[in-house]
Amino acid sequence: MASETEKPKGLSPTDPCSYSRPDECIVTHIDLDLDVDFQNTSLKGQVHLSLQKKKEDIKNVVLDTREVTVQRVTDQANGQELNFTLGEHDPNFGSKLDIKLPSSCGDKCVVTVDYETSPQCSALQWLRKEQTAGKRQPYLFSQCQAIHCRSMIPCQDTPAVKSGYSAKISAPKEVIVLMSALRLGTEAHNSDSSKLVHKFVQKVPIASYLIAIVSGDIESRDIGPRSKVWSEKEMVEQAAFEFDQTENMLQTAEALVGPYVWGQYDLLVLPPSFPYGGMENPCLTFVTPTLLAGDQSLANVVAHEIAHSWTGNLVTNSNFEHFWLNEGHTVFLERKIAGRLHGGELMRHFTGIGGWKSLQYGVVDVLKNGPYTKLIPDLCGVDPDDAFSVVPYEKGFALLFYLETLVGGPDAFEPFLRAYIERFQGDSIVTSQWKDFLLDFFHQKVGVFDEVDWNKWFFGQGMPPFKPDYDNSLALPCADLCQRWVNALEEDFSSFKAEDFESMSTAQKREFLSLLLLEDPFSPEKIQAMETAYNLNSIKNSEIRFSWLRMCIRAKCEDCIPRALAFVNEQGRMKFVRPIYRDLYDWEQSRQVAIDNLQAHRDEMHNTTAKLVATKDLHLPN
Ligand code: BES
Ligand code: ZN
Repeated sequence: MASETEKPKGLSPTDPCSYSRPDECIVTHIDLDLDVDFQNTSLKGQVHLSLQKKKEDIKNVVLDTREVTVQRVTDQANGQELNFTLGEHDPNFGSKLDIKLPSSCGDKCVVTVDYETSPQCSALQWLRKEQTAGKRQPYLFSQCQAIHCRSMIPCQDTPAVKSGYSAKISAPKEVIVLMSALRLGTEAHNSDSSKLVHKFVQKVPIASYLIAIVSGDIESRDIGPRSKVWSEKEMVEQAAFEFDQTENMLQTAEALVGPYVWGQYDLLVLPPSFPYGGMENPCLTFVTPTLLAGDQSLANVVAHEIAHSWTGNLVTNSNFEHFWLNEGHTVFLERKIAGRLHGGELMRHFTGIGGWKSLQYGVVDVLKNGPYTKLIPDLCGVDPDDAFSVVPYEKGFALLFYLETLVGGPDAFEPFLRAYIERFQGDSIVTSQWKDFLLDFFHQKVGVFDEVDWNKWFFGQGMPPFKPDYDNSLALPCADLCQRWVNALEEDFSSFKAEDFESMSTAQKREFLSLLLLEDPFSPEKIQAMETAYNLNSIKNSEIRFSWLRMCIRAKCEDCIPRALAFVNEQGRMKFVRPIYRDLYDWEQSRQVAIDNLQAHRDEMHNTTAKLVATKDLHLPN
């Protein structure tokens, strides 16, 4: 085993997951000129990178790439070829592209990279038209967070560097192209009349992981003065209803943390294989179709992505070891927005309790109190996708909630949040900068933070050193009903009434099922009794369906296996797919079935999902 001193050091001084050297030279603007080639499933063209030296005597710029073919690199000023070397492929981080700068380059110059992405590109998913809802046109979407941008664009793929971007994207006339940017309209293609060129600009400097593209047969509906929802036409009306609170959420967020600086806030509902619930791509949040519950009960994900417009997209983690700065603050803001819009403080405490429970489950049962339970994990040699968990979200939220109670509650803490955004917007920061600012902001409240064990909160494994005090009045009915079921004997089964469940809010139903999942598995008979009482098999809400299926698998109910497979085959959100596969793996009777199912469906799955399920959840060789 490698000792502490032998462990691989991070790739660059500021980011263990990037080869780039922003201390030497930074990209100040990215200009893309790409063609969407559905036949060859590749993006092909040029990226023009505006560079600014940070030190004199810099002769090279180092970029991140992953499985891209680089045809040539030139000096944009005069078209002269520049020498470059493409390093060895590393399975976690791709390969480094080392470019010799033009000798004429002063402190600034522009280099052009001619390149093509590979069909295996980890950022992109290419769907055949048969894989879409309308089956009319093929579909392309990207997911760059955490470190996949390098597979789509040679760049400094570290959130420590921010730049604006512009793009001209040519694509077949039959499809639309959108990016995480403002749309500047289309123009004719100069050599191919079957194509159109779509133009974009993102003027606010952003980290590379926020560059995004989608292309497909989609349309839009207005849902607010600065918002449209985009999706295939099959879903667009339902989506417009589901997310009709978007403008209210934006205004609530603005009241909390200041003006929305990005102009447009659109939503895109992706095909079912989209691996996340939501992704905060600037000007165009991406969401999973599993949010279309029919009753707006899952729209908190939109509040979350809206909150990222400040926490994450304006104030950004400098590398993914400090991911909690993005996600912890965003969950905190998401719950403030939800509290102000409906439910108030009681609701905020209720979701806080739910968060603590899911943290407990993640830390103890999934991560076994291991190294990724640290709020600030060590990512040397680690792909951030492999370390992804509930921890940055809920340990981060718990810390902020705890600090809020220490300083005297929301009235005292909200001004801090506002000031934090004001102070660091446009920057990429690490936790010590956040903490220094916090201590400075509250310096007059002498001693308020004396009891905080910062070291344990930041670097301790396992649950946090302190549990904040939550009001549990909304959670009580969920816990009560859960305990009644836990303690119920067969003769009690008939005493459960549908209305005990029906009278709960969707949020409480979710919480009730999450609580049941923390208990020892039920017997198949008890599961059958619950089904008889509440008709859970017929519920379409994806969160409830997910928890209920897990209950059934863990109870070893054989008849649930086909339903579980149907669920993981019809949508690809990792939050749902991965735990179901893990549960199926843990039961001998379903283990091989799960493996066979993955093999049978691997081609239609998103690359990232397929890889993580295969290697981490089903323990298959790579
Ligand atoms: N930025 C994340 C999604 C993400 C994280 C993608 C890391 C890739 C790597 C997004 O904002 C998010 O947190 N989504 C959650 C929503 C939830 C917490 C409300 C999700 O996808 O479930
Ligand atoms: Zn998030």
